[in-house]
Amino acid sequence: MKVLGIESSCDETGVALYDTGRGLLGHAVHTQVAMHEAYGGVVPELASRDHIRRLIPLLERVLADAGCTRRDIDAIAYTAGPGLAGALLVGASFAEALAMALDVPALPVHHLEGHLLSPLLADDAPPFPFIALLVSGGHTQLMRVTRVGAYELLGESLDDAAGEAFDKTAKLLGLGYPGGPALAKLAERGTAGRFKLPRPMLNSGDLSFSFSGLKTAVLTAARAKELTESEKADLAAEFQEAVTEVLAAKSVTACRQHRLSSLVVAGGVGANRRLRQRLDEAMAKIGGRVFYPALELCTDNGAMIAFCGAQRLLQGEVPVAARGAFAVRPR
Ligand code: KG4
Ligand code: ZN
Repeated sequence: MKVLGIESSCDETGVALYDTGRGLLGHAVHTQVAMHEAYGGVVPELASRDHIRRLIPLLERVLADAGCTRRDIDAIAYTAGPGLAGALLVGASFAEALAMALDVPALPVHHLEGHLLSPLLADDAPPFPFIALLVSGGHTQLMRVTRVGAYELLGESLDDAAGEAFDKTAKLLGLGYPGGPALAKLAERGTAGRFKLPRPMLNSGDLSFSFSGLKTAVLTAARAKELTESEKADLAAEFQEAVTEVLAAKSVTACRQHRLSSLVVAGGVGANRRLRQRLDEAMAKIGGRVFYPALELCTDNGAMIAFCGAQRLLQGEVPVAARGAFAVRPR
């Protein structure tokens, strides 16, 4: 069965074709970063319009790479939410219309479920059950994953998501968009510990997170004096240390509490090198292992949506009932 995946929740247009027998046949992503850069963030109206422009060329490219035609598509999975309403509507309309034209089922997929399952696309996939750390621009969650479709939320951010904190802090430091990678790059030139930032909720005794105070602490430090370029790098390094320390500590606690040795990391912040280093070290100490999606599948893409849709169909989900459903939640 070949499932087409469509992702258009924010500023990346992703299209992919996944075969349940042969794996990923093709995938392509167009990022709108250059278009939004001048505005310092994503402009929703521009994002929607660009998704319209990109979807058909991306579909044609993916089909050509896969050596397939439209007629080979057996089902279409698309990101139904969460995300920017207009951007989501473009992907949903495209997917539903194409499904109707080809007379194949269309399946709305929860964006986070796509991220969550993306490490399963790797050759070296994690075994069930596992703990998943979902760290994106909109969410920071720890989940226990028993199988596809069975997710238990163990803890999440009470305020800003980790990616959001990276983005907002980057803005405070006058870095460009997208903030997360820019801040991570600056942090590499700085030394953590020269500024002292808190480790929010590190010892809270639960698996909740809070990152908004950290951003305020950076603001206070930045307002105290005019920062030199090297001080900015030190502050960025300390911020990255604070966020990654809390994320790593709580991920290990979740694994310990549930006696699981596999940790899956998904979402854009999962691309952060320092986070990966910390998680690898911390999990090795308890005899565990961390599984990451391929770097190109950490941020938004159609492959994770195609894969998620395919798994749901394999589990016998009947997509017809979902027609017209816009927002879905993982069960
Ligand atoms: O998963 P994603 O592509 O989109 C959402 O679903 O949100 O994640 C985007 C988030 C942004 O906040 C971005 O700044 C952050 O991931 N991000 C990073 C890095 N790469 C992307 N944050 C820290 N370090 C990075 N290397
Ligand atoms: Zn995402």
